[in-house]
Order: sequence, then structure tokens, then C-alpha cells
Amino acid sequence: MKNQLIYLDNNATTRVHPEVAAAMLPYVTGECYGNPSASYGFGKKARAAVEQARQQVAYLLAVDAKEIVFTSCGTESNYTAIESALRCYPERRHVVISAGEHSAVENLCLDLERRAYRVTRLGLDGEGLVDLAELESVVNSDDTALVSLIWANNETGVLSPIEDAANIVKNKGVLFHSDAVQAVGKVPLSLADSAVSMLSLSGHKLHAAKGVGVLYVNGRVRFEPILLGGGQENGRRSGTENVAGIVGLGKAAEILRYVLKDEHHQQQMSEMRDRFERTLLDRMPDTLVNGHREKRLPNTSNLCFAGVDAEGLLILLDNAGLCCSPGSACSTGSVKPSRVLTAMGMSAARARSSVRFSLSMFTTEQELDRAVDLIEQAVSKLKIVLPVSGGPVIRHT
Ligand SMILES: Cc1ncc(COP(=O)(O)O)c(C=O)c1O
Repeated sequence: MKNQLIYLDNNATTRVHPEVAAAMLPYVTGECYGNPSASYGFGKKARAAVEQARQQVAYLLAVDAKEIVFTSCGTESNYTAIESALRCYPERRHVVISAGEHSAVENLCLDLERRAYRVTRLGLDGEGLVDLAELESVVNSDDTALVSLIWANNETGVLSPIEDAANIVKNKGVLFHSDAVQAVGKVPLSLADSAVSMLSLSGHKLHAAKGVGVLYVNGRVRFEPILLGGGQENGRRSGTENVAGIVGLGKAAEILRYVLKDEHHQQQMSEMRDRFERTLLDRMPDTLVNGHREKRLPNTSNLCFAGVDAEGLLILLDNAGLCCSPGSACSTGSVKPSRVLTAMGMSAARARSSVRFSLSMFTTEQELDRAVDLIEQAVSKLKIVLPVSGGPVIRHT
């Protein structure tokens, strides 16, 4: 047990489910390598597998299979949704996002600003939530092409009020996209009768393989393809389909549909996470939880270890075989505090002392118990050897 890897970074990527791997195998090893666009039987076999996966994903989201477009990843889905909206409404030069978006959306929006678009970023409160009154006040039917809000934040797990936001935006005649890469497969989510126009998800975040994603496009909204070529995906995304990846994603969607139906599973995951947090907070009273305690994913725990440098902590934990993520990003040699945590009003010191732990359906109580011991040992060591400067850390909630 001591040297076994403990993987608590499931918001970064997940282990491929064994049933997913088994479903993909014939499309990887060579039994079924036909091109799904080919007209002969061998190609049609691959086509049938892609269409079955489309149906499986559609069932998970409670939408029509025709509304599912396979892409290469969550980043491509987000990019396509935003760029498509701008092409559909060329006279509109305004986009609304939140200060808590993933860099896949934030960096595209920085590029839009360089291209003379106007971007409004909704603020976050201390718990990571957007204000719907602010959303209502900034969306302008004449000029806003799209509102894009993250469903569940990748760092804190905080859940946005997506349905309410989508209704506000729809009533103004504006398209609404959600980056649901962290939400799909972790919380039940139905788009039946929803005001959401487009939604992104990514295979590798939900126990499918890397290199496959989905953009849901509501059948009633305008859409312009970004990748042009052979006209695959009904003309909405050209490029030969990643058949093995798509088949795996379909299988993962099928598995998760059953898992998410089981309320016990949901409860079990949040109970495990809560017990992990409680034990750490009891043993180290300087520990703080970042983000709303209830309105968040059941698998995510973003913790600040006051007075501890998270980068140093991560190195010690990595050496001990525990994988987790920092609340900061290293760029050009300097450690930048997390954009999301600072948007929530946290000091740079608090953000630099924060670490994200994220569980999956494969995480066990034993692993979490062991993780708590390793974290406690590493934090105590760092407090003695490397106390951080940067002022006191403010205690929120
Ligand atoms: C919220 C969110 N959106 C988008 C992405 C990008 O997804 P992908 O890695 O599939 O491009 C991620 C990945 O971390 C994410 O967490």
C-alpha cells in the first residue's frame, strides 16, 4: 500500500473504465478499422458503432442523437460553440462569460478582445458563484452573440446556476453555451426542455479515452461549422471520426447513466469527500475549504493549507505517490496564483497555499485515509522547513 499510487487528480483526467477499454478494443486492434464514411459493409460497421455511441451520449444528456456532434476534446467543443455563435450573428460583437471559466474559454476570449470583440466577465462571489442579476443586466439582445458559462468549475467544483442563467439568456434571444466538461458524468444533468443552446463535454474526464469530445447543439439553434472538409458529422465537424474514442465515450456514457441514476452512489462520493475534508480540517485547524460547501461537485475538494507553499507540498506528495493539483499555475518561471481563486476575492497567498483533490468512482476509503496521513506529514514538514511569507490568510466561511 505504501508505495502504491494514490490518484486524486480526476478533474485533470480519469482512468479509462475497463468496460470502455474492452468496447474500444476491436476498433484499435484492427478488427474494425473501416472508415465510417465508406459505402461498403466494412465501413458501415464502423458507422453503426459511431451512431450507437451517439445514441448512448444522447441518452445521458436526454437529447436527440441528431444534436450530438463528436469533436476531438472539450477545448475544440468550446471553441466551436463560441466561434460558431460569432459567425451566426456577425453584427453582434459582444460575448459574456464568467471570471471562473477554464482557460479553453478564457484564452479564446482574450483572443476575441484582440480581434475587437467586447467580452464581459461576470464576477464571482467569495464562494465562487455568479450573480444572475448581473447576467441579466449585461446581456444585450442587439449586441450579445453568446453567453458561455462553466457548469462546474474545474478547480473548486462549484456548480453554476446553469438552468436559471440559460432561461434569462434565452428570453433575451441570445445563444447560451455551457462548458460542462467537469459536470457531465459527475452530477445528473438533463437537457430535456432546457434553454441551453450548446454544451461541451470531454471523454477523458469521464472514464473514456483522451482525444474525443462532444458538442451538443440544440436542433433549433443556428450553427456554423468551424472545421470544413469532408462534411462528416452531418456537415457540422469535418474530419474522419475517432471511431475507437467515440465508441469508448458511448460506453462511458452508458455506464454513467446507470451510475448517476443511483442516488446512493452520489451520496457515497460526497460522503467520502466530506470525511476526507473533515479529517484534514480536524487534524490541521489552519486548513480552509475554497468554494461553496454544498453547491459543488461531489468529487472535488479545494483546500488551502494556510502558511504552506502548495508547489512544495505537491512535490512532497508526488514523492510519496499522491497525485493532486495546485491552485496556481507555473508560467514563465513564476508561480501565478489561480485566476479563479483570486476572482473569488482570495489573496495571492491563500491561492498559492491551495491544492485541489478530486476523487473518482475508483477512489477508495483506504486511499483517502492514507492520503490524509501523507498530507498531514507533508504539511507539518513544510511548516517547519519552508514557512511562506505573504501575510495572514483570511478565513472565509
Ligand atoms: C472545465 C473544463 N473545460 C475544458 C477543458 C478542456 O478539455 P480537454 O482537455 O478535453 O480539451 C477542461 C480540462 O481540464 C476543463 O476542466
